[in-house]
Amino acid sequence: MVRRLKKTVVLIGMMGAGKTAVGNALARLLEVPFLDSDEEIERAANMTVAEIFARDGEPFFRARESEVLNRLLSGSPCILSTGGGAFLAEGNRAAIARRGVAVWLKADLELLWQRVKHKNTRPLLRTSDPKKTLATLLEARSPIYAEAGIVVEAHPDYSVEDMARKVIAA
Ligand code: S3P
Repeated sequence: MVRRLKKTVVLIGMMGAGKTAVGNALARLLEVPFLDSDEEIERAANMTVAEIFARDGEPFFRARESEVLNRLLSGSPCILSTGGGAFLAEGNRAAIARRGVAVWLKADLELLWQRVKHKNTRPLLRTSDPKKTLATLLEARSPIYAEAGIVVEAHPDYSVEDMARKVIAA
């Protein structure tokens, strides 16, 4: 059955929370389009997120992120997964509140770390102590993520599909 979404469902949360994987599964279950803001930024720039950070810096990336978010939010309702920093800018939060509904995929440090530790794709974690960096980001960002209307907690035993069903139930 093709369901009509009234608003775009915007998945937010830390790197490793599963936004892209859960977003994909959710879109499949609901039979609606799936979009990913990082992928859109990469496609437009023809560079990876890490390359954009290295060449043009984080402020440039954040500006592209806001543009892409606004563009995607002005289209038809869909499932939209965002980069971990997207919800931090007040303007982005306002745009999401106007056009969508934010869902925080909440995960604890250990789960996030297990998922990101072997990947070298996240420029913010290219530090001498990436786990500590992740912990610091998690602590600083959690109160902001908590502004999302819906919170779904991740757990190591939950599959991607379990998480997608929890989002639908929430
Ligand atoms: C970022 C998260 C990344 C990506 C960029 C910055 C962040 O996306 O947007 O590296 O600030 O947390 P994921 O959350 O999909 O890893």
